Amino acid sequence: MAVTGSTWSPSSWRTYAAAQQPEWPSAERVEAVRAQLAAMPPLVFAGEARALSEALAKVGEGGAFLLQAGDCVESFYEFSAIAIREKLKIMLQMAAVLTYGATLPVVKVGRIAGQFVKPRSSPLERVGDEEIPSFRGHMVNGDAPTREARRPDPDRMLQGYHQSAATLNLVRAFTKGGFADLNQVHMWNQEFVASSPQGRRYEQLASEIERALRFMAACGIDLRDEPQLHQVDYWTSHEGLLLEYEEALTRRDSLTGDWYDCSAHMLWIGERTRQPDGAHVGFFAGVNNPIGVKLGPTATPEEALELCERLNPQRLSGRLTLITRMGSERVFELLPPILRAVREAEQPVVWVCDPMHANVFTSSSGRKTRHFDRVLGEIEGFFAAHRQAGTWPGGVHLEFTGDDVTECLGGSEDVQEAQLDSRYMSLCDPRLNARQSLDLAFRIAELMRSA
Ligand code: PEP
Ligand code: CO
Repeated sequence: MAVTGSTWSPSSWRTYAAAQQPEWPSAERVEAVRAQLAAMPPLVFAGEARALSEALAKVGEGGAFLLQAGDCVESFYEFSAIAIREKLKIMLQMAAVLTYGATLPVVKVGRIAGQFVKPRSSPLERVGDEEIPSFRGHMVNGDAPTREARRPDPDRMLQGYHQSAATLNLVRAFTKGGFADLNQVHMWNQEFVASSPQGRRYEQLASEIERALRFMAACGIDLRDEPQLHQVDYWTSHEGLLLEYEEALTRRDSLTGDWYDCSAHMLWIGERTRQPDGAHVGFFAGVNNPIGVKLGPTATPEEALELCERLNPQRLSGRLTLITRMGSERVFELLPPILRAVREAEQPVVWVCDPMHANVFTSSSGRKTRHFDRVLGEIEGFFAAHRQAGTWPGGVHLEFTGDDVTECLGGSEDVQEAQLDSRYMSLCDPRLNARQSLDLAFRIAELMRSA
């Protein structure tokens, strides 16, 4: 059953107000790039997006858990096989902890291979005594704090496309070609992680998984023939913010005739662009991929219902994921009325907690940061609110990295404010490092067991 209405087309968003779009210096050049992108191969196939919708439908029914995670924004410069492999490792580790710890399938979705554009709270940034345009992600402008670098350049969309293609190619090789084989479960633990308490806890869990595999083999089950043990499905996602780019990658599926945005398997609409009558909702209402929407502290139950109606009028399971980000202090106050309203309207949504974006503050040294305890606190509030409403806490949406960065405070190694400067690498929001991520996975597995 297709979601596309009769008046929808990939360019019909242009008749609505589009928030957070760059001020491109040349409309002709943007159109030329769009046309060029529209002629290039799709990055993902419609059939894959449909398979993800099915996996998400299972999450919505309480039979699986969604782990959606990755960089706040990808970089044109930090682009190597090692960087991609390290991101994959921490995802596989967290998924192993959650799958084994909660004995539920984990649907793995990266913020990867296309997460290159950022919404900004302010279009301008003060640098010294000058005001220059804000950084909007490498697919729009440069991050250096100069007026020159911040000029939007439509040709960056082409570079973003090519980097996404190369990233996805390697990710497919890693996930289908042996690296993600469950027999490699020990190999995903990086050295700097293995020496920590949660790294050792992971080693123990990995050994238990190995024992379970050996046990099944000893029972005479031929594990070589079980593809689920040797490969994983790892889906791509990004915020569908830059509508010229998304329009260009939107194609009609030759099998069904339906429209799919083939820039990623899943796309989400951000907190700043979810106006029900705006261009982003208008655009994503017509593509058949699974769609996410962020809901921040100002979201009302009525708004949530309106978004459900606009984006999923046919009430298809797995179509719509609501990603709530209320902040650790207010989650238990703000979330329950929304859960109740959506449940009573019988809208089949996947509920996901983003414990990152409403828990940001600026440290005394001027660094944007988040505290591990607040991140965990919002997830606990999310589980508690769902328990009360009788709905399924379907997953988490995180910003993390496989690297040993110091961007978020706390965790069992207790990163302090004074340490933030030592390895702060993010181009945008602070990410959990690999140890903090693993730590969080163990805590979430415990919450899932009690849910
Ligand atoms: C993000 O996910 O990086 C982001 C900007 O989130 P939000 O739209 O929820 O603020
Ligand atoms: Co972010």
